[in-house]
Amino acid sequence: MRITQLTVDNFRNHKHTTLQLDAGVNVLVGPNAQGKTNLLEAIFLSCVGRGWRAGRDSEMVQFNQDRALVQVTAIKKFGSVDITIQLGLGLKKSISINRVPIAKVAELMGQINCIFFSPDELKLVKEAPADRRRFLNIDISQIDKSYFYALTRYNKILQQRNAYLKNNTDPRELSIWDDQLISQGKIIIAKRQAFIQKLTPYVIAKHHELTDGKETIAITYETCRDFAAELTAARERDLRLRTTTVGPHRDDIAITINGQDVRVYGSQGQQRTAALSIKLAELDLFTDITGERPILLLDDVFSELDSSRQARLLTAVANTQVIITATEAPATGKIFRIKQGTVLA
Ligand SMILES: Nc1ncnc2c1ncn2[C@@H]1O[C@H](COP(=O)(O)OP(=O)(O)O)[C@@H](O)[C@H]1O
Ligand SMILES: [Mg+2]
Repeated sequence: MRITQLTVDNFRNHKHTTLQLDAGVNVLVGPNAQGKTNLLEAIFLSCVGRGWRAGRDSEMVQFNQDRALVQVTAIKKFGSVDITIQLGLGLKKSISINRVPIAKVAELMGQINCIFFSPDELKLVKEAPADRRRFLNIDISQIDKSYFYALTRYNKILQQRNAYLKNNTDPRELSIWDDQLISQGKIIIAKRQAFIQKLTPYVIAKHHELTDGKETIAITYETCRDFAAELTAARERDLRLRTTTVGPHRDDIAITINGQDVRVYGSQGQQRTAALSIKLAELDLFTDITGERPILLLDDVFSELDSSRQARLLTAVANTQVIITATEAPATGKIFRIKQGTVLA
């Protein structure tokens, strides 16, 4: 799939911006703080229904405005799709697919798929487990709506259970939530396990390619052995700590290179390559699962690579629509110069 056009109104520092994108490499070029990443975020929003950086949707609405609009047109194997998202202060966001409003964000999942890669993605390897869970949640949701449904329900029940734990002490009451928490949690765990298992051979292959066969990577999902039993066994502790201490919201991914934990022992370079291997592996996995090549969003990644690595990365993503932000224009691609929230002609 590929995006042909992106239009935003009152979106972050863009009053009104339209881009006609090429099928291959597109580069958003400009100095810092001009609004390049904001445009990638708009695309990301149209794929998964939430902003890349925003905690709240309203953060994406331009200062002193009360509405923002993002519109994306994409061509897929079987026709085109048009996504429109309206964000408003104090309003629920409204999303339309081909001009038909949808009731649930989950329906947006899988319409346009993207893989986002930025220096922040290093977090995927070295930071807190929450960053690795975020990666799983965003990416599995794109290829599996039922995962997103389970996750939404799980989080809701978890919130209620935690609210109860904050103020109460009767363990028997917990069973009101535990049955549902367990059934949704088991779906999440099973789907994450299956995802990591499917992704693994692709990651190994990519990492071999990127390291000239010098490094062997392995990823494993770390979860509870028996969620139901462990949740019940943890009741006393949960009441004492006033929060739910076991479940998929505490899980992690272990990443090793040549048998050593990259999270702890990896060099910066190894961590970056591992993160890139995982992201590029996802491109291939998504393609095989959905029959469509996702769109690759590369935020500020180029500045960190020398020109031969840049070329290598671009060869690795041939046949993919790529949208890159950079402070200087690379040798290839359609160039859009971004200045203070506008595209220079
Ligand atoms: N809601 C908003 N309204 C107006 N401007 C915003 C909003 N959110 C962020 N900005 C501005 O966007 C700019 C950063 O844009 P960004 O896309 O991150 O820049 P870069 O070109 O470096 O990628 C900053 O100047 C910031 O103040
Ligand atoms: Mg940026």
